[in-house]
Amino acid sequence: MPASTMEELVSLCKRRGFIFQGSEIYGGLQGFYDYGPLGVELKNNIKAAWWRTNVYERDDMEGLDASIIMHRLVLRHSGHEATFSDPMVDNKKNNKRYRLDHLVKDQKAEVIAKVAELMGEDDSNFPALVAALNKNTLKASESLKAAGVRDPFSGEVGDWTEPKPFNMMFKTTIGPVADEESYGYLRPETAQGIFTNFKNVVDSTSRRLPFGIAQIGKAFRNEITPRNFIFRVRELEQMEIEFFCTPGTDEEWHAHWLEKRLSWWEAQGVPRGKIEILDVPKEDLAHYSKRTYDLMYDYPTLGHEEIEGIANRSDYDLGSHTKSQAELGLVARVEENTDSIAKLTIPHPETNKPIVPFVIEPSAGVDRAMLAVLSEAFTKETLDNGNERIVLKLKPHLAPIKVAVIPLARNKPELVELARSIKNELQRLGLGRILLEDSGNIGKAYRRHDEVGTPYCVTVDFDTIGQSAEGADASLKETVTIRDRDTLGQIRLPISELAVWIREKLR
Ligand code: GAP
Repeated sequence: MPASTMEELVSLCKRRGFIFQGSEIYGGLQGFYDYGPLGVELKNNIKAAWWRTNVYERDDMEGLDASIIMHRLVLRHSGHEATFSDPMVDNKKNNKRYRLDHLVKDQKAEVIAKVAELMGEDDSNFPALVAALNKNTLKASESLKAAGVRDPFSGEVGDWTEPKPFNMMFKTTIGPVADEESYGYLRPETAQGIFTNFKNVVDSTSRRLPFGIAQIGKAFRNEITPRNFIFRVRELEQMEIEFFCTPGTDEEWHAHWLEKRLSWWEAQGVPRGKIEILDVPKEDLAHYSKRTYDLMYDYPTLGHEEIEGIANRSDYDLGSHTKSQAELGLVARVEENTDSIAKLTIPHPETNKPIVPFVIEPSAGVDRAMLAVLSEAFTKETLDNGNERIVLKLKPHLAPIKVAVIPLARNKPELVELARSIKNELQRLGLGRILLEDSGNIGKAYRRHDEVGTPYCVTVDFDTIGQSAEGADASLKETVTIRDRDTLGQIRLPISELAVWIREKLR
């Protein structure tokens, strides 16, 4: 049974050291989070699983790690300077600012219906209502006031300004120069690093169509209202693929990637039944998109929200950078009467003529993946003895700690040393983090490892070192107990067989 509320997840994440508020000791910074000892392991495991499936297990993919700060012209010609904005409204009574669609969506149903009526729209088509509010800004301001739209901060009806676009890119100066042009942007999506390196990758790998470039990295968005824990943050991480194909084959590849991505989520413990596929309406498409499928995961408390977008970006980005470079005189026109420029093209697989390929882009957020994986794994169980336990039933490959090795008594050096040597041997298998858990209380250790999703606990006890009470079974010497997180079953195994057993189970 997955987590039923976001509060349960937030509480577990803080209590057990998965996620902390950024800059917390100075009061926190809204929209920024830090990943703690277990969070960093889970995050790394999600990214490794994504890379393994999308790069190592395919024959048509290359990897990339591009820089975060980009030339201002990249983000100008990608269209982000002009269009990467959300509509913002201010409440003149208290100077609070809100993202227009979030403000309206969070009102009572009757207030939304009234706004829609005043705008001459149908309240069952929310995207169309938001589009109308954005288009007719004076009427929007009047309608928000007349419908009684309340300020979420003060709870009172606001004195709303006309909506205006707020560009979400973070700008930064570069170097010690005071020159007005010496600025760059923190990338708002990792994708642009892939487009700008397209030709470098093609030339250095001799790739032909179709093929993809995969990248995992940070992106930054100055969200107007970051909220819902790590769901909407200002510093996020993305796992993105730009898959380049011949125009005309793009729809087939779009369907291919939709299927591949759903099966990847399933393998991470996020079932298809919890993901709705939204064929994004035309009026909601990003400026570059011909068609987009949004994967809408059923988050606790939030309901269905986007976990990944799979867009058909057509030849928009490579085409736009290519044209812009020609206009700037950076590259020579290679063919008369066409926009084909030496730089961002690739030979057509059949005709060999240079073409700007089409692009299919599966783009998933690491932070939103963390939330979904944690939510699905979160389980509350009542045990036979009536006690309740919280257990994170994470897939073993995602578990932050793979095995906890526990000496039964922390003040018995033989037990602790043997446990440490077993831990070191298991660590050498390269399966991920193995922990020596010598906190001393076996019951508490089991509870803690259930809550953080450790699949196996290995206990070294007095039988293991042949010092059990008189009459105990001497054959237990040099054996350990293994406890299974999910079944709570325990088996006894010789230490000499432990590594093979663990490797087999965690493979
Ligand atoms: N390159 C395409 C692109 O960036 P997007 O739909 O804006 O498309 C892709 O973002 C994914 O990045 C989303 O599906 C979501 O998982 C994640 N994402 C976007 N904005 C986010 C934010 N403010 N906080 C957390 N994750 C975010």
